[in-house]
Amino acid sequence: MKSLIILAGLLACAAASTASTSKVVCYYDSKSYVRESQARMLPLDLDPALSFCTHLVYGYAGIQPDTSKIVSLNENLDIDRAHSNFRAITSMKAKYPGLKVFLSVGGDVDTEEAQKYNNVLESAQARTALVNSGVVLAQQYDFDGIDLAWQFPKYKPKKIRSGWGSFWHGVKKTFGTTPVDEKETEHREGFTALVREMKQALSPNKPMQLSITVLPNVNASVYFDVPAIINLVDFVNLGAYDYYTPERNPKEADYSTPLYTPQNRNPLHNADALVTYWLQAHAPPQKLILAIPTFGRTWKLDSDSEIAGVPPLHADGAGEAGPYTKTESLLSYPEVCAKLINPNHQKGMLPHLRKVTDPSKRFGTYAFRLPDDNGEGGLWVSYEDPDTAGQRAAYVKAKNLGGVSIMDLSLDDFRGLCTGDKYPILRAAKYRL
Ligand SMILES: *[C@@H]1O[C@H](CO)[C@@H](O)[C@H](O)[C@H]1NC(C)=O
Repeated sequence: MKSLIILAGLLACAAASTASTSKVVCYYDSKSYVRESQARMLPLDLDPALSFCTHLVYGYAGIQPDTSKIVSLNENLDIDRAHSNFRAITSMKAKYPGLKVFLSVGGDVDTEEAQKYNNVLESAQARTALVNSGVVLAQQYDFDGIDLAWQFPKYKPKKIRSGWGSFWHGVKKTFGTTPVDEKETEHREGFTALVREMKQALSPNKPMQLSITVLPNVNASVYFDVPAIINLVDFVNLGAYDYYTPERNPKEADYSTPLYTPQNRNPLHNADALVTYWLQAHAPPQKLILAIPTFGRTWKLDSDSEIAGVPPLHADGAGEAGPYTKTESLLSYPEVCAKLINPNHQKGMLPHLRKVTDPSKRFGTYAFRLPDDNGEGGLWVSYEDPDTAGQRAAYVKAKNLGGVSIMDLSLDDFRGLCTGDKYPILRAAKYRL
């Protein structure tokens, strides 16, 4: 009996220690500061999230094209005294002493002269400028580490072979032989060198941490030399979302962020395939962080769309912008959840979306509304909700990975508009780790 109690105690300790080592890496997109109305997020709004986050990643700094230095992309917001957002965010550590705050570079938002990301990988001199400036910037504003959300060339979207698609297929076939990146070996080696040099520069005095984020639609097996870099980084955030987007796949709607391969799809375009690549390349599972997106991807449906709504289905480009985030093809979680209800069946309002959950827990949730008799108002959304976020966290736990990342906090329901709970996606993920 006594030994049973001791055993139970030991098991409880073991469970507690694994729970406490799981990372919850919360991305904060500073762009949210300048959104309007309900979507506008101020540093204070982060507070209810921070007791769940082990890391807060400030998105995003960029690269100055002519100097290759890491710089703020919005000095007025990040640095100038009126807002001084860098400082406002890193000073959150006073209240949450265990929190590590990273500055992230790239993140697919640094679009001016995007070729500069390749240029840095091709030049030792440019890398030195980037590394040195990054360390200085991070130290100056009291960041605990740097995240390289490197903007590598993306692989091409899937070709569609039916209807209008066949025309595009023909066009693509003509040009289809050009590789995405003619210098992929050079870029792979350059990135390994960059990670090594960054690690060296961050180490000496006050040691800072280093992470990398694998952005969506970047071929990890081309650019990431896992054995060469994995010991240099504290964690790797796998951006396993946006496999299917209205921008890349305007004529066909499909699960945007599947955990596993839906039938008859590319077996590489899902989270499990990306995790498997890193594990097979001998990354320690505890270094891998799996992303959970907090937004949905939307397509317009038209009268040619299959009425069952089952993906993949014909679509007519990106869905229109949401009322608050005002970005075509994207809806934040609270924007999706508002579209699932129309309590009074008000006249003039579009009917609500019908939500379809996935009992297999492998592909994600979608919701849709068919077009009306005039062919208007059709919409199809692929998104994560607290249930699927919990399923991704359970996957992370089952595979003994390092944790989850929330991408990003500003598109989770940080006001609690859906059910009253603030940050429902973050909470659901944390709960299942
Ligand atoms: C990535 O590149 C490898 C070859 O280097 C290729 O076999 C694989 O299909 C590519 N993956 C994707 C997702 O395009």
